[in-house]
Formats: sequence, C-alpha cells, structure tokens
Amino acid sequence: MTIATDLLQQKIKEAQLGGGETRVASQHKKGKLTARERLHFLMDEGSFQEIGMMVTHRSNEFGLEREKYLGDGVVTGYGTINGRLVYVFSQDFTVFGGSLSETHAEKICRIMDLAMQNGAPVIGLNDSGGARIQEGVVSLGGYADIFYKNTRASGVIPQLSAIMGPCAGGAVYSPAITDFIMMVENTSYMFVTGPNVVKTVTHEEVSSEELGGASTHSTKSGVTHFSCANEIECINNIKALLSYMPQNCEEEAPAIAYEIGNEKRPKLNSLIPENANQPYDMREVIQEVIDTDSFLEVHKNYAENIVVGFARLGGKSIGIIANQPAFLAGVLDIKSSNKAARFVRFCDSFNIPLLVFEDVPGFLPGTDQEWNGIISNGAKLLYAFCEATVPRITVITRKAYGGAYDVMNSKHIGADMNYAWPTAEIAVMGAKGAAEIIFKSEISAAKDPAAKLKEKEMEYIEHFANPYRAAERGYIDEVIMPEDTREKLITAFKMLKNKVDNLPRKKHGNIPL
Ligand code: HXC
Repeated sequence: MTIATDLLQQKIKEAQLGGGETRVASQHKKGKLTARERLHFLMDEGSFQEIGMMVTHRSNEFGLEREKYLGDGVVTGYGTINGRLVYVFSQDFTVFGGSLSETHAEKICRIMDLAMQNGAPVIGLNDSGGARIQEGVVSLGGYADIFYKNTRASGVIPQLSAIMGPCAGGAVYSPAITDFIMMVENTSYMFVTGPNVVKTVTHEEVSSEELGGASTHSTKSGVTHFSCANEIECINNIKALLSYMPQNCEEEAPAIAYEIGNEKRPKLNSLIPENANQPYDMREVIQEVIDTDSFLEVHKNYAENIVVGFARLGGKSIGIIANQPAFLAGVLDIKSSNKAARFVRFCDSFNIPLLVFEDVPGFLPGTDQEWNGIISNGAKLLYAFCEATVPRITVITRKAYGGAYDVMNSKHIGADMNYAWPTAEIAVMGAKGAAEIIFKSEISAAKDPAAKLKEKEMEYIEHFANPYRAAERGYIDEVIMPEDTREKLITAFKMLKNKVDNLPRKKHGNIPL
C-alpha cells in the first residue's frame, strides 16, 4: 500500500514539474507564468480538478520514445470561477515548447466534449510552439479535431482564448474561431507565417512583436479583443468577461439584484454640444446611463468610431453598440461594421439584450472603402441586427442619417423600442448637403447664393433635422429627456424580458461574410 501511494505521489510531483526546473526558470525569466501558476490565479481556490495528468505521447519518432513528460504539455480540467463551472486547458511551454501532439490534442478535445455536454464555457490558455514537429501529420490532425469542435461549440457555449506566448501557423485558427481573444503585451504573438518566412517571401523585415504582438492585433488587425499589460491582468479580464455571460445558449447571464430608485441623470441633458458638428465622447453617455463602473469595453483600440462592450443596467447584463462621434465623427466603415457585427452576434447567441446609442453621419465615402468592400462589410452589421432576436433598444442622441439610420437597430429591422433625444436629427443626410442638392438651381439663381443656401439649410433643419417626423410615423416610440434615459431603459428591458421571436425555420442563414 505504501509503495503504491508513494508511486502516485511521485508521479503527481513529476507531472507538476512539467519540463523541469531549468525550463520553468527560463519561462519565468521571460516574464511568463507556468501553465499551473496561471490556473492557480484563474480558478477559485481549491476548485481545479485535473483530468489526464498521466497522459503521455505515443510517438517513437526522432527519439521521442526516450523523452516523455506526464501530461504531455497541457494541463486540462474543470473547476469554478466565481462559483461557476468552467472547463479549461493550459498549455505548458516547458514541455516541448507547449507543442501540440496527438495526445495533447485529445486532452483538449476531451475538455471541449465535456463542456458541450454539460453546458459550461471553455477557456484556453495558449502558449505553444505549434504542431509537435516530430509527430508530423498526426499533430496536424489534432489541430483539425480542435477546430472542428470549436466550430461545433460556437454559439452553444462561450469560448475564451488567452494568448500567453507563441501562437503561430495554423494554431491561430482555434482562438480565431472562439468568441474572444486576449493577448498579453510583449510576451505573446499570433501570426500565420513568422518574420523569417515574411522576409523570404516579401523581403519585409519585421519583428515578432510588430508582426503579431498584442498591440498590433488590438489596433491594426482587430484579431484580439483585449490587450493586457501582463498575465494577471489577462486572467482578471477573463473573470470579468465571464461575469457578463450565461453558461450556455439556453441560459441567461447572471444578474445582480436591483431595486429601481431615483434613476434621473441630469448630466445627460448637457452632454450634446450646441453645434451639431462638434464631437463629444459617447463613453460619457454610456457611463451615465449604465450601473456604476459596469462597462467592459471590447475591442477598445480598434475601429474606435464604434464603441462596443458589456455593461449592467439595473443589475442585468447587456451588450452596448454605440457610434463614437469623438472618432471620425462616428462614421460607419468596414472595420467598425465588422467589429459591431461580431459583437451583436455574440450577444444574440447568448441571450444578452442589445442597447444601441446612435449618432452616425452615415457610411464613410471613398475609393478605399468601396474597393475594399464597404458594401458587403456594412451588410454584415445590417444582417447581424436584422437576425438578432434578443430584446433590442435604440437611443438616438443626435445624428441618424441615411442608410446608417436603418442599419443602427432601427424599428424597421426589428428593434423593440426606439427612443430619441430632443437633439436627434433623423434625415437622409445633413441639412447643408441636402439643401445644396434639392435647391441647387434656386441657390445658383439667387442674388446672394450663400444667404440662400443658409435659408434653405434652415428650412431643411426645421423640417427634418429633428426627431418629430420619425415620431409621427411611429419609427420612434418616444422622444425623451436625456436625463430620463436610464429609467426608460431599465423599465423597457424589464418589459421585454420574456420576448419570444423565432427566426424562420432554416438550416442557417447566409451572412455576407
Ligand atoms: C516540438 C518544439 C516545438 C515544436 C518548440 N519546441 N517548438 N518541439 N515541436 N513545434 C521545443 C524546442 O525544441 C525546445 O525544446 C523548447 O520547445 C523551447 O523552444 P525554444 O526554441 O528553446 O524556445 P524559444 O526560443 O522561446 O522559441 C519558441 C519558438 C520556437 C519561437 C516557438 O521554439 C519555434 O520557432 N518553434 C517552432 C515553431 C514552428 O515552426 N512550429 C510549427 C508551426 S506549423 P528544449 O528541449 O530545448 O526545451 C504549425 C501547423 C499547425 O503549427 C497547423 C494547424 C492546421
């Protein structure tokens, strides 16, 4: 008995050592935690249950039969975060550089199967040199098994990916299919082909960090939703993000008990500048309306002309999509349409109601946008809103011009409640541009064309640059004082709580990807 238990203790100790002390020290020297240390900070204390600790690879190629590590480079299991069940895998860079072997892949797949069967999120902590080179196609097959399961799980359970080291080659496609990616600054990177290949093929000289670091992917490509200063920040971000989500698509996100009280927010009355062309920060509107400090912004530094993120309103989880007049006047373009569309679809998949703040002058004109497909990309956002069946509310704070009026969760595409502030301007275009077109001959025939233009502009403003034409039609349910917005929204979302809206029976739609 003693010998048997001793052997078990010895094996556990061996597994916990990963690739050994020297490699652990080297990991620490790079400013990185080990796979197990990361789990220690991520999971509720004492909750982590490991699965497959004794698994080893089955390869006999290139001397691998002489080099085996218990666990084979990935720690997998389940446990709780803030009391809620999650499944997790954490790649161990100290074992063959965290590279993915056949058995390493099997361990990840097992976790994903359990997560699907039991309806709980999967969190992947990625730190890997990619396919285990010695195993060849078996390793590639392992990756494909994971991609397949990621796709099957999409929309069923939330999937979160933290990149905490290398993630290169085809390996990037598993995180890319998951719902959210977060990267750690300076110690993580993602690319399909690394700097050496890039240099050979395109003769560009670029560092790993520049090519695929957290800052690149959070600002230029939008591949990562979050850029974290260090691993602890990254882990805390995972916990925060999970708090807004349900466990699976059949459930609702956890709510905090809330008693409605004095919900007036007078500061909102003075946030919109007198001059309609002057910018203001839509984040200030968001902060005033939502529960204190509850905003978790997603894709903060990418396509800043639209702001998206999770918040709580009256204790309940919501997804916010807001035009940002402080950046490019809040115009819709390719990147912002993609960013918002993906966010809308995540929220709709997981029963998170949508709140839109609208101040949009239209779509961005230009050859760059047209040639790169603003038509099909803008259509993604339109499609995403049209398809969403969760409760949806829009507040128009100022401009709602042209096609962008339709796209930004208008009544016509299925929004449940549409509010406008008295400062709203709901029109085909801005008053000056409109006057120049429809009164062109009158203006050019006038003695003082500039004065005539001004006069016609004012005429157009009086007629259309307000919320009342739309309200007369019922396109706007109510024109509200800004200070009443919070109360209106809490009440309306409560009213919509049991909304049922089914899509027509189909295999799946064909979003213009
Ligand atoms: C087996 C690997 C490995 C791999 C690293 N190691 N990558 N072993 N397969 N893919 C091992 C090293 O031999 C070393 O072992 C240890 O991990 C640490 O690696 P180092 O090179 O010392 O670390 P570092 O200097 O930090 O560099 C990390 C690295 C580099 C940039 C990731 O190791 C590297 O370039 N690895 C190869 C990356 C690659 O080409 N992967 C295949 C991509 S193709 P010891 O024993 O010394 O500790 C791919 C296809 C997926 O992934 C397709 C899916 C469809």
